Amino acid sequence: MKIRETLAAEFDQFSDNYTEVMTRCVPHYLRLLSSLSECLPDDFSAGTILDLGCGSGNATALLLKKFPDAEYTLLDASSDMLDLCRKRFSGKNMTYHRSYFRDYTFPEGYFDLVVAGFSLHHLDSSEKQWIFPLLYKTLKKDGLLTCSDMMVKKYSAEHARLVEEWRTFINANYPDGEKWAWMEEHHEAYDWPDDYGDQKSWLLDAGFGHVDVKWREDHWVHFIAGK
Ligand SMILES: C[S@@+](CC[C@H](N)C(=O)[O-])C[C@H]1O[C@@H](n2cnc3c(N)ncnc32)[C@H](O)[C@@H]1O
Repeated sequence: MKIRETLAAEFDQFSDNYTEVMTRCVPHYLRLLSSLSECLPDDFSAGTILDLGCGSGNATALLLKKFPDAEYTLLDASSDMLDLCRKRFSGKNMTYHRSYFRDYTFPEGYFDLVVAGFSLHHLDSSEKQWIFPLLYKTLKKDGLLTCSDMMVKKYSAEHARLVEEWRTFINANYPDGEKWAWMEEHHEAYDWPDDYGDQKSWLLDAGFGHVDVKWREDHWVHFIAGK
């Protein structure tokens, strides 16, 4: 598989068998995905939820079990991913926005919960520092940002080590090597992960009161940031 020319087209293409491919290509994908819902505080309840880079809607599907009456906003640049969500959540209280984050107007003080599953690593360091204050402002008082992702600065020594382990993981699941060849190209073109520590300090600078790791394995991390 060759990578596509834009991120939206790349994820249109990736939408075929998305969950199966993610599970076999991303270490701890299902654990990190479930953390987005399971690690929320027991006494937390959400009436308005933004799924930032919703993909095929895997995080929203889990949150729906916990917050069946919430109003969901699903935001993604990929129309094919949003089509999967429309079919999957037909009849549910969902609003869909096909947009890059940079073109979306984040409503102020609107969401109780923003969920970012494997979407923020597509923003580079300066874009993360741009979006964190917007995520802070779009949350209500006591709102939460919950995030799971790869968190290691690209081209660092740690990144090189992680990429080697990642290659072994993918090649074990797809022995013909084709999937790794695609992932390597995709990672080079579309992924801009940053260290957890840097992201934590940018979130605190943006106004968040606390940022806490709830689960991690190496540089695969789940954290919650609270307003
Ligand atoms: C790796 S997928 C993750 C999907 C889903 N959240 C999950 O956990 O399975 C990343 C998704 O974020 C979307 N995305 C990434 N960067 C984006 C941006 N800047 N604007 C809009 N959507 C973006 C992609 O189109 C893709 O559907």
